[in-house]
Amino acid sequence: MYQLFRKIFFLFDPEAVHHFAMNYLRILAKIPFGKNILTFFLTPKGKNLKVRFLNMNFRNPVGLGAGFDKNAAYLNELEALGFGFVEIGTVTPLAQAGNEKPRLFRLPKDKALVNRMGFNNDGADVIAERLKNWREKEGRQNKKLPMIIGGNIGKNKVTTNEEAWNDYAICFNKLHPYVDYFAVNVSSPNTPGLRELQEKDSLKKILLNLAMMNNGKAVAKPVLLKIAPDLTPAQLDDVIDLALEIKLDGIIISNTTISREGLITPAEEVEKIGAGGLSGKPVTEKSTAIVKYIFEKTNGQVPIIASGGIFNARDAREKLKAGASLVQVWTGFIYEGPAIVSKICKKLNQ
Ligand SMILES: Cc1cc2nc3c(=O)[nH]c(=O)nc-3n(C[C@H](O)[C@H](O)[C@H](O)COP(=O)(O)O)c2cc1C
Repeated sequence: MYQLFRKIFFLFDPEAVHHFAMNYLRILAKIPFGKNILTFFLTPKGKNLKVRFLNMNFRNPVGLGAGFDKNAAYLNELEALGFGFVEIGTVTPLAQAGNEKPRLFRLPKDKALVNRMGFNNDGADVIAERLKNWREKEGRQNKKLPMIIGGNIGKNKVTTNEEAWNDYAICFNKLHPYVDYFAVNVSSPNTPGLRELQEKDSLKKILLNLAMMNNGKAVAKPVLLKIAPDLTPAQLDDVIDLALEIKLDGIIISNTTISREGLITPAEEVEKIGAGGLSGKPVTEKSTAIVKYIFEKTNGQVPIIASGGIFNARDAREKLKAGASLVQVWTGFIYEGPAIVSKICKKLNQ
């Protein structure tokens, strides 16, 4: 059924379709019993799916990666689709429009996407308010196993790398009451210079400052670091050393890649698209290899969430086998459709 929808969707601009599809889902969820029907058919059931991770209880191990619901605008709908967790953002202190359109492209032959969105988002104040309202309205305190919310945070384009630590601190403070964990994003390729923050000293400054702020809160929230799949072995070792040194809560592996190696799509088509992060099938193996490397090098001491080219239960299992505790989908959601969580979980539950 989704194959047919996908054929039609793929005739139109990817970003426009993204908004159209989510708004259509919103209408479905709003009609009487709509959300219950979606939940009934799409929310995975199975007692083997629950995961306890960093003191949080996940109803299942399949989450939605950052960048899909940047503004925390579709949480109700995503909950009905069965996600165990959704990472909102990347959120920056001030709202920003992101890069010029078009900025999202499909590479169907490779089951991939290229994006250069550039952290378009409503800003930390508006998003914090939206999360607050959602939590209050949905009466989430009464739910047995609510969907977990991660807050992915970044810096504004106009902020220099020297001042970046402060942008992360602002977002951290504003979102802290309303998210269950944080993802520190220093790995998106679409904000000039952002990935340089993956160098040990810059990272240390950002993460230690967040740790200090976290310790001052009544309840500390886990802070994870999201890394690129393009780090050199030496850079990966630096990340590992730092994670162990400062007792980082976890790592999210990985973001999109800037590499265009091994694509089936003809080079001219790829070149025409231009700069951006590549996601989907071409990053599956790369990100699994990094999960395995970090898991083995740390003897499993650093908790891992895996992201990158997960389309089905086999892909998810590979990531879990390599050492991840949870997985996130993004490009797979576009290619496989809204039943992706229930399909993956059905097989994982067996
Ligand atoms: C259109 C698009 C926007 C994204 N935006 C963000 C973002 O704002 N922050 C972030 O940390 N990752 C972002 N990502 C990366 C995804 O969260 C994910 O880590 C990456 O796409 C690899 O997973 P996938 O192969 O399943 O797509 C984005 C990905 C896509 C395709």
